Amino acid sequence: MQSNIRPESMARITTPEQANAFIEEQVAAVRAQVGDKKVLLALSGGVDSSVVAALLIKAIGKQLVCVHVNHGLMRKGESEQVIEVFGKQLDANLIYIDATDRFLDKLAGVAEPEKKRKIIGGEFIEVFAEEAEKLEGVEFLAQGTIYPDILESKDGVKAHHNVGGLPNGMTFQLVEPVMLLYKDEVRVVGEALGLPHQMVYRQPFPGPGLGVRCLGAITRDRLHALREADAILREEFDKNGLAGKVWQYFIAVPDFKSVGVRDGKRYEGWPAIIRAVNTTDAMTATIEEIPYALLHHITNRITHEVEGINRVCLDLTPKPIGTIEWE
Ligand code: XMP
Repeated sequence: MQSNIRPESMARITTPEQANAFIEEQVAAVRAQVGDKKVLLALSGGVDSSVVAALLIKAIGKQLVCVHVNHGLMRKGESEQVIEVFGKQLDANLIYIDATDRFLDKLAGVAEPEKKRKIIGGEFIEVFAEEAEKLEGVEFLAQGTIYPDILESKDGVKAHHNVGGLPNGMTFQLVEPVMLLYKDEVRVVGEALGLPHQMVYRQPFPGPGLGVRCLGAITRDRLHALREADAILREEFDKNGLAGKVWQYFIAVPDFKSVGVRDGKRYEGWPAIIRAVNTTDAMTATIEEIPYALLHHITNRITHEVEGINRVCLDLTPKPIGTIEWE
């Protein structure tokens, strides 16, 4: 196992040449570590786990077993992209589990944010462990640990875990090929491995997914409305050149309705709240100015195209005092 201290002599990876050299070195290291054994990876579709998957596919091909758990709280098109890129293009050994019903049934009626997070985290481990138990000969677990995770766990800022911890009795040796890299380096390596730009430069997305943005007790109809409204926001930010300028942008939908009018009739619906912030470390955040004409266009699209939404609001609150997420 490699040391988890980054040597001072290690140059920051910024070019494809440096990335390729890193990839070659890690491919050899992973092959030496793993031999002919199988490696399991929880593939969320986030930047870190995607880059680890691509690297390990290059190193050990079908000895890597990727498990993608769709908890029903993904953004629109995300699970489909994991299947397309890893299952089809990279021909990975990919197990796709649609656990939407399991998660949403457990979450039904639960409004308290921390309780929702616990249910989502706990259920994730259970689904993942069930799949792992079905497999034979797996001795290794790959994780998308990156250097800030190591530094933060040393400082006691947060516990270092990528899959949220595994149940007792499951013992794996860890394979963590990008653990000495900073996020920007992981992205350069991801592009050198041929992953789509959009996947490698994805904005941060919390583990509990849309569960933290569908406020209060999650219902399927409101979750669907949130996912559709969020997809429109992302599409419009992409088209209008804001995707690269704004660090994080999304929609939150609270669990109350107000009266509106549609087609001359009373139309009760939820508000969609736009949050678009800039930050460097997510500890503080500022509000990005979005052109009014674009806000009008987005409002028009969301209120006409998304069933159940009858207002669009813009959150102008910096962090502090507001956190980035609404939950
Ligand atoms: P807050 O809401 O605390 O969010 O201002 C700061 C940043 O952290 C992200 N976030 C998470 N990321 N797992 C994650 O990987 C989580 O459970 C989680 N919760 C919040 C949030 O999206 C923002 O970028």
